[in-house]
Amino acid sequence: MISLTINGTDHQLDLPAEMPLLWALRDALGLTGTKFGCGVAACGACTVLVDGQAVRSCQTALGDVSGQVTTIEGLGPALHPVQQAWIAHQVAQCGYCQSGQIMQAVSLLSENPRPTDDEIAAAMDGNLCRCGTYPRILAAIRAASTAMEG
Ligand code: FES
Ligand code: FES
Repeated sequence: MISLTINGTDHQLDLPAEMPLLWALRDALGLTGTKFGCGVAACGACTVLVDGQAVRSCQTALGDVSGQVTTIEGLGPALHPVQQAWIAHQVAQCGYCQSGQIMQAVSLLSENPRPTDDEIAAAMDGNLCRCGTYPRILAAIRAASTAMEG
């Protein structure tokens, strides 16, 4: 039995320790906001937070999770400033990569509230977007950074 806290709720999961966290989130818990892209930690679509840090849930075994998991569903109930900036800048196109992008951005801003453009580019480098929304992602992260500074 695997004990995990996900979006503030404790779960006892009768699942194999080697199962990727992504599978448990989507298939066992119905948290389908987190997406499957590549399955090999190369695209970022599956990004969630573990104790506030971005991790690739497709390559994180359940048995190796040692912290509180937050998915895109767990950022609420109020919209996170990053989500607000995403809406204001109309970042999403098809939307498939966007949960991962947002979770990566939340992780970045929690560690570095005032990132430079180069730091944003470096932090977001592993999150791919086939629709090429990168300029709007950059603009939204800049805006969220400013908003979170208050
Ligand atoms: S699905 Fe996990 S990084 Fe691509
Ligand atoms: S918005 Fe379509 S893949 Fe990023």
